[in-house]
Order: sequence, then C-alpha cells, then structure tokens
Amino acid sequence: MGSGIKTYAVVTGASSGIGREFAGQLVLTGRPLIISARRGDRLHELKGEIQSKVPSAEVAVIEADLGMKDGIDELLSGINSVLDNGERSDPYTPARLGVFINCAGFGLCGSFDRSDVERETAMIDVNVTAVHVLTKQVLKIMERQNSGYILNVASSAGLFPAGPFMATYYASKAYVASLTQAIAEELREKGSGVHISCLCPGPVDTEFNDVANVKFALRGMTAKDCAKAALKGLFGGKVVIVPTLRMKAAVFFVRLLPRGLMTRIVAAQQKKKF
Ligand SMILES: NC(=O)c1ccc[n+]([C@@H]2O[C@H](COP(=O)([O-])OP(=O)(O)OC[C@H]3O[C@@H](n4cnc5c(N)ncnc54)[C@H](OP(=O)(O)O)[C@@H]3O)[C@@H](O)[C@H]2O)c1
Repeated sequence: MGSGIKTYAVVTGASSGIGREFAGQLVLTGRPLIISARRGDRLHELKGEIQSKVPSAEVAVIEADLGMKDGIDELLSGINSVLDNGERSDPYTPARLGVFINCAGFGLCGSFDRSDVERETAMIDVNVTAVHVLTKQVLKIMERQNSGYILNVASSAGLFPAGPFMATYYASKAYVASLTQAIAEELREKGSGVHISCLCPGPVDTEFNDVANVKFALRGMTAKDCAKAALKGLFGGKVVIVPTLRMKAAVFFVRLLPRGLMTRIVAAQQKKKF
C-alpha cells in the first residue's frame, strides 16, 4: 500500500451485516474499496458514512444481483474497469486486486419436503454458483499478480455433517468450505502467493435471521467481532476461520461424534429456531 500500487479490496454483500463491517474495517487498512450488493441505496449510504470518517477513502459501488449470471458478469466487468483505470480519479497509478470477500448469501429454514424450491435454487445461485464463479475468476487475476487474499464466507453450518430443517443452506455452506479448502491445498502445493480462507462463524447478529425467518437458538456474536476475527485469520494465513471459542469447541466435537448422532443434535437445535 505504501508501494505506489493501489491494492483494492472487494466486498460482496456489503449492504448489510458482516459484509458492511468488512468494508468499514478494510478501509481503515488504507485499501481502496469496491462494495457490491443489490441495494444501491444502502451501498451509497455506506460509502457516505465511510467517507465522512475517512475523507480520503476511495469507494466504488457496484450494484449487482449475484443470483443472476448477468449480475456476476457486471461485478467482474466493474472490477476490471476499476483495475484497468476507467473508473478511477488517478488512472496512472497501477492497481491490483488485494482482497476479495465473497460475503453475499442468505439462509432458509423449514423441512425439505415443504420448503419452496424457487427460493432454494435462488439460494444455491448466490451461496454456491456465484461464490464458485467469482472465486475462479478472481483467482485468475490474483495468480497473474502472484498475490492476493480471497475470503469465502461459509458458516459453521458448512463444517457439520448435515443440517436438518435448514438442509439446503447447510449443504450450500459445506460446498463453500470444501471448495475453499481444496483450492487452498492446490495453492499451497504450488507455492502460490495467493491465499484463500473460508470463514465459518456460528450465529452472528445481522439481518440474516429476518431473511431466513428464524430466531437463533444460541446468542449471536456481533458482526464487528466476526469481521475482525475473520480479517485477522485471513491475513494470518489460516485456511478455516472459526471465530469464537464456543464454535471452535463445537467443531472439535463434530469430528469426534458419529455423523448420525451429530445430525440428530443439529436437528434438535434447528427446531428451536422456529
Ligand atoms: N448471520 C449469521 O448468523 C451467519 C452465520 C454464518 C454465516 N453467515 C453468512 O454470512 C454472510 C453474510 O450474511 P449476514 O449475516 O451479514 O446477513 P445479512 O445482514 O442479511 O447480509 C446479507 C448480504 O448478502 C447480500 N445478498 C443477498 N442476496 C444477494 C444477491 N442475490 N445478490 C447480491 N447480494 C446479495 C445482501 O445484499 P442485498 O440484499 O442488498 O443484495 C446483504 O448485503 C452470508 O453468506 C451468510 O450465509 C451468516
């Protein structure tokens, strides 16, 4: 950052919750930001808030629906045009992509036989397909630079064998956790300068519950603490980041208990959310 190269940080899902916190904390590290979500009014409000605290902060807003192929393409072409100078006030300063956080996502509750297939496939589009495509495209940019950090926001749900009554959400986050760990190993094997992590928090107090139409059975951590722990883990080179001691202990027991028993325990916890 003091090298004369602008090192951008991109955050999806920045209009709310954990993503909003990521943006606020990353800007304090001096990185110019690109923030994305569907709700442009929220993104512009966040931009104003950031610039009122840090007047020199550069914040580009890209409105995109990541549940659609066009939305993913718009985000990627928006990032490329910022990096290629088109959108920047100082086009002659070289730029690279320093951090990319796949944070956009949502959850759904209910028994699998009754839940709405349209909402579920929309969730798979955002939680799985967009994360997959964006990770691949961003990795290509970062591998050319031989530097950069990718953070995929999974969930502790992704580290459990299964999540009855929130089945598709758990499966979507297991995909993200598995994919990220596999890519991390490929990068480690070839000595790449690019690092990738997945964030696996337990409950976090955000708008997530309203969207999923549930109440947490456990008390949630704040989005601020979650983002702080995540950035520490990411820049510290951790592959799987589990923010709280309580969740770390839960994940430890997941490895010890039989999968069937663990799945019954998760089912009992999930039912408390309705
Ligand atoms: N809160 C928790 O307990 C918890 C725990 C573990 C993991 N997570 C994960 O953390 C991530 C952030 O969630 P949160 O808790 O911060 O919830 P949140 O406050 O509801 O934020 C979700 C973000 O995702 C964006 N988003 C949703 N659908 C989108 C779409 N189709 N296109 C683009 N952006 C979309 C939303 O923006 P727009 O609506 O403006 O598009 C919003 O910025 C999610 O991946 C979630 O699964 C949350």
